[in-house]
Amino acid sequence: MIDFQNVIEDIYSDLKHTTNKGVVASYIPELAKQSNASFGIYLKPIDGNNCHVGDWDTPFSIQSISKVLALSKAIAFEDNKIWQRLDVEPSGNPFNHLTLLELENGIPRNPLINAGALVVADILVTHLKNPKQDFLEYVRNITNDQTINYNLEVATSEQQTGFKNYAAANLLKSYNNLNNAVDIVLDFYFHQCALEMNCEQLANAFYLFSNKGKCVNNKQHLTLSQVKRINAIMLTCGFYDEAGEFAFEVGLPGKSGVGGGIVALLPNNFVIVTWAPGLNPKGNSLIGMQALEQFTTKTNRSIF
Ligand code: DON
Repeated sequence: MIDFQNVIEDIYSDLKHTTNKGVVASYIPELAKQSNASFGIYLKPIDGNNCHVGDWDTPFSIQSISKVLALSKAIAFEDNKIWQRLDVEPSGNPFNHLTLLELENGIPRNPLINAGALVVADILVTHLKNPKQDFLEYVRNITNDQTINYNLEVATSEQQTGFKNYAAANLLKSYNNLNNAVDIVLDFYFHQCALEMNCEQLANAFYLFSNKGKCVNNKQHLTLSQVKRINAIMLTCGFYDEAGEFAFEVGLPGKSGVGGGIVALLPNNFVIVTWAPGLNPKGNSLIGMQALEQFTTKTNRSIF
């Protein structure tokens, strides 16, 4: 029987004082206030005790991790229909790249790059009565935590500087792949990315993807086939042009965000969350990826 608490404590001590911690994101000015010294890990097994170490209970900006939660809600509304507007191939390009979008006539490569997430945001804006409030309620419900909220300073900060997202949304609109107004979709997307959660809350939010579609309250939100698809998309597209590297080193479906968070999971086994705001050149948490590589290697737990 593996002592998981011991394993994550060992990983924490090994990486906490490493000198190369990566660079905190600054293209969203509000995120530049984070320190790359922060580091936390939270493990939530399906059976067994939760384990945690370091800054696991400090809230941070979940950024692109939110794209998976938005996708899960959009799939629950439209299921197969959404794949007429989105592909499911890895892009091999950075998360905010635009070239392929034009080459491929406004159909984003996948729902986890920014352009794809904007199409998902458009679907949610169409279906939800009060999109920002209703999406927040959904996240609170699957997490069983009514305290989760948007960080409005982060949303405003991206609203003022997210020019590439304005470009992506306008390109999508020009190809008739946005049904709502560009500004409304972007406003929703910037808030979605500005959700603030700690490692424990994120592990609870992602529990349904490791638990056959049932959330921490035991409520069924997704079918088995929907969970299979979402996990497959995380594995192949969750780390953009580093998805191969993450599969190679870690071997789990997962998703990163430029706030420094990573969520990864082994279906029917566990969810693990790391937070370390220093990023590598591909925009993924440097220490987080190393921690997860150590975790799956030391415990022999991966989908492979
Ligand atoms: O749209 C953006 O650029 C950010 N709101 C989210 C990007 C992100 O988190 C990329 N992930 N590593």
